[in-house]
Amino acid sequence: MFKINENYLKLPGSYLFSTIAKKVAAYKAENPDKTVISLGIGDVTLPLAPAVISRLHSAVDEMAVKETFRGYAPDLGYEFLRSAIVKNDYLARGAQIAIDEIFVSDGAKSDSGNIGEIFSVDNRIAVCDPVYPVYVDSNVMAGRAGDYLPDQGKFSNVIYMPCTAENNFMPALPEETPDIIYLCFPNNPTGTTIPKAELQKWVDYALEKGAVIIYDAAYEAYISEDDVAHTIYECEGADRCAIELRSFSKNAGFTGTRLGFTVIPKALKCGDVSLNSLWARRHGTKFNGAPYIIQAAGETVYSPEGQAQTKEMVAYYMENAAAIRAGLEAGGYTVFGGINAPYIWMKTPDGMSSWDFFDYLLKGANVVGTPGSGFGPHGEGYFRLTAFGSHESTQEALARIRSL
Ligand code: MLT
Repeated sequence: MFKINENYLKLPGSYLFSTIAKKVAAYKAENPDKTVISLGIGDVTLPLAPAVISRLHSAVDEMAVKETFRGYAPDLGYEFLRSAIVKNDYLARGAQIAIDEIFVSDGAKSDSGNIGEIFSVDNRIAVCDPVYPVYVDSNVMAGRAGDYLPDQGKFSNVIYMPCTAENNFMPALPEETPDIIYLCFPNNPTGTTIPKAELQKWVDYALEKGAVIIYDAAYEAYISEDDVAHTIYECEGADRCAIELRSFSKNAGFTGTRLGFTVIPKALKCGDVSLNSLWARRHGTKFNGAPYIIQAAGETVYSPEGQAQTKEMVAYYMENAAAIRAGLEAGGYTVFGGINAPYIWMKTPDGMSSWDFFDYLLKGANVVGTPGSGFGPHGEGYFRLTAFGSHESTQEALARIRSL
């Protein structure tokens, strides 16, 4: 008789955003006359940039001609895209990353869920609390997280690093020593970030303890402050302790098109073994490459037109972020984030629980957000709104929330 991976049974409930989607669908079915505005999942709403669309069209045309048709993409990504990434995202920021340290993929969600495969199940992970649920859930599936403790909303073998208003959403170096540290800055879900000097402390800590940092920089394009690192490799020594995950979803609107990449410097080693070679082996075995047309479109993001057009998209969303911050503050709410990230993290009013506030907002204002407690126990009493709506729907949502 076959056996299942019983670690899956340890996962409480379904994936956070699936739970929310089900609740919203049920509400809409019961209230077909209501117009529900979603500021919940961090999904973009603006169409792809014109330069990207134009390149998609021309790449499709190439696929229609024998001479320019492409089959399987190279395992690790087309060189044209990897060299554009290296030049623009790394060398331009003073980070000496080489082409063979870039692994093109179908997005940061898959990479953040899969990267654990190259590590022993015995490793102890540390995560911020609240946290993007994929980091924890994927480690539960791998059998690395221990057992779920329902009274605490935690897993027994995970080190949680609280990030709350009290510590300015900056995790403290953990008391117990982790082997793998997940960091995401600018942060999802809190929409806050840490200065480069603080990030350097994490790099120094990881080097001292022999830990690896899995650094999710999916929201890098939203950084507006000068003292924030755009890549962890701006920090001294990060090439010996950090893996960086990047995405084209939030900077260029590829949530439905799917493109991302992972950086593993060759200097990052466990004894004599380079993590770069392990991930290359894994990638070659389990992944057949992001489609040519998508990688071609991704290269265009780095062209002068692509850069100008995608910067405009980011600016558009950040106008929403500023409007949400200002509108909620004027309505008496306490808000955080939204300056270097497209998320606003608000305190629920009157000590309401995160899920009660979710229901209150859905039923009273027909606005969907994400309950903070869905991201971890220290998210309780907080609520996340995204800036990825249109200006009109964002303003309408704000007016509805304020009229409650
Ligand atoms: C979110 O809402 O947290 C994001 O959409 C998640 C993701 O990018 O996968």
